[in-house]
Amino acid sequence: MFSQLFVAVYLALFAGATPLTVRSPPMTISLARHLNSTGSRTVLELDQMRMEFLKQSATRKGPKSASSDTAASIPVTNGIISYFAEVQVGYPPTNFSLIVDTGSSNTWVGGNPGNPYTPTSTSHDTGMEVFVEYGTGLFEGEEFIDQVSLAEGLLIQNQSIGVAGFALGFSNTTDGVMGIGPTDLTSDTIEIGELVPTLLDNAFAQGLIDEKKIGIFLKPTNNESVTTGEITFGSIDRSKLTSDIHFVNITSTFPANMSIGVNQSIAYGNTPILNNSAGIMDTGTTLILLATDAFNMYQQLTGAVLDESTGLLTITPAQYDNLQSLFFTIGGCTFEFNSNAQIWPRGLNAAINGVANMIYLVIGDSGSGSGSEGLSFLNGQVFLERFFLAFDAENSRVGLATTRFTNATTN
Ligand SMILES: *[C@@H]1O[C@H](CO)[C@@H](O)[C@H](O)[C@H]1NC(C)=O
Ligand SMILES: *[C@@H]1O[C@H](CO)[C@@H](O)[C@H](O)[C@H]1NC(C)=O
Ligand SMILES: *[C@@H]1O[C@H](CO)[C@@H](O)[C@H](O)[C@H]1NC(C)=O
Ligand SMILES: *[C@@H]1O[C@H](CO)[C@@H](O)[C@H](O)[C@H]1NC(C)=O
Ligand SMILES: *[C@@H]1O[C@H](CO)[C@@H](O)[C@H](O)[C@H]1NC(C)=O
Ligand SMILES: *[C@@H]1O[C@H](CO)[C@@H](O)[C@H](O)[C@H]1NC(C)=O
Ligand SMILES: *[C@@H]1O[C@H](CO)[C@@H](O)[C@H](O)[C@H]1NC(C)=O
Ligand SMILES: *[C@@H]1O[C@H](CO)[C@@H](O)[C@H](O)[C@H]1NC(C)=O
Ligand SMILES: *[C@@H]1O[C@H](CO)[C@@H](O)[C@H](O)[C@H]1NC(C)=O
Ligand SMILES: *[C@@H]1O[C@H](CO)[C@@H](O)[C@H](O)[C@H]1NC(C)=O
Repeated sequence: MFSQLFVAVYLALFAGATPLTVRSPPMTISLARHLNSTGSRTVLELDQMRMEFLKQSATRKGPKSASSDTAASIPVTNGIISYFAEVQVGYPPTNFSLIVDTGSSNTWVGGNPGNPYTPTSTSHDTGMEVFVEYGTGLFEGEEFIDQVSLAEGLLIQNQSIGVAGFALGFSNTTDGVMGIGPTDLTSDTIEIGELVPTLLDNAFAQGLIDEKKIGIFLKPTNNESVTTGEITFGSIDRSKLTSDIHFVNITSTFPANMSIGVNQSIAYGNTPILNNSAGIMDTGTTLILLATDAFNMYQQLTGAVLDESTGLLTITPAQYDNLQSLFFTIGGCTFEFNSNAQIWPRGLNAAINGVANMIYLVIGDSGSGSGSEGLSFLNGQVFLERFFLAFDAENSRVGLATTRFTNATTN
């Protein structure tokens, strides 16, 4: 729940008689983008599994064990693209490289047998079991309280972390996950059923940051070895933005309301393809998934055909030349997603089992109709590589802004 009182900590400097309010700068954590195409599922299938899982959250009641039915049906494969942050846990510290996930809120380590969590002088074993499910996997382990350093000046004390006993759906080289979604997503993840304070909650409560906000800045890239992006805790670094941040309340429509969810409508050029409906912004999804009716209209309008091996739509160079922008309208503000943003980076076609020089579209079919089940879209990484995302946890708001990469032609 977002029930804590907002406490703004200002560092007031006095220049003569005029008080000048200065906020401390945001804490910045660099992100590395890893591309891994060794799994047996296509990028579309992985994103669809995540969507399906989010939709079914209504029927889930935890904590459960890894032997439940869901576990059995989950293939052992991680996402094709993940953004990782390096953190240090304990003292003396162990470094872990964690998948940054807005769609979950627990943080856990120790998934890589080659880089285990070893209790140190700052570790406290609570003896509680932690269980977290993801669309493409799950995690089960033991809860420890420990210190976690995210960046210089951002050393969080008494953080609840999970220590992996068993993880499914992640490669064994993945250390764990850093969950940066709303605190409510930690509901029923530990045995006693209480909410678990997130990294952001603790950083704020401990006075390390002035504002309970996260900023996510990803850059488009067509080069596998270029790692880009950053996440900030605290006040938002507006130097990267080319517009004001447009804030909207998190949608009240379930289940999008549990995560970083908003209502949006979409037009292809001048033609509406999705009426105002609820969905989420998600760093753990690669593509943009749309409700089947919206997807079908998009396919028809673009003239694209479905490609079997990737699961994605393809278009010809001539169709690409005529591709119109998609317009996402969120809280009365319209964000233009240009033609280049709508195609998979051609330099990375091989990573999705695609053919060199083919043009694949990043708009995928969610697998069910709009309005159904309160989740009509997932705006994944390809969206967030064009628009800066802010999550204002104190006021349950989502912010979006353009960046100098919004109109990039990198793909
Ligand atoms: C752990 O991370 C810190 C801070 O980024 C770095 O200085 C140190 O070299 C890393 N240690 C190892 C063993 O990678
Ligand atoms: C990870 O899994 C692979 C394949 O199953 C195995 O060969 C390798 O030894 C494992 N690595 C670790 C660190 O356990
Ligand atoms: C961490 O927990 C310990 C033990 O409960 C407490 O003494 C300490 O003040 C806490 N530190 C912070 C920064 O909350
Ligand atoms: C990609 O996944 C495979 C199998 O899951 C794993 O062995 C490999 O280490 C992963 N590579 C990266 C860069 O994560
Ligand atoms: C990708 O980036 C690396 C490092 O900057 C560079 O050496 C390489 O040539 C680039 N590859 C392509 C295909 O642009
Ligand atoms: C957003 O939420 C705030 C606080 O709950 C409320 O006061 C405000 O009216 C909401 N704004 C809109 C546009 O619904
Ligand atoms: C989301 O909506 C459901 C159903 O209306 C409600 O029970 C739940 O408390 C809401 N969650 C949040 C975080 O608003
Ligand atoms: C939007 O809603 C209107 C009114 O219900 C309907 O006529 C129209 O077909 C819908 N448009 C889309 C793109 O679903
Ligand atoms: C958001 O969209 C849902 C349908 O997904 C609709 O029921 C709800 O009324 C919309 N909320 C707002 C504030 O427009
Ligand atoms: C992107 O390009 C469109 C069309 O040229 C323009 O209207 C829009 O302002 C540009 N957006 C940004 C953020 O530069």
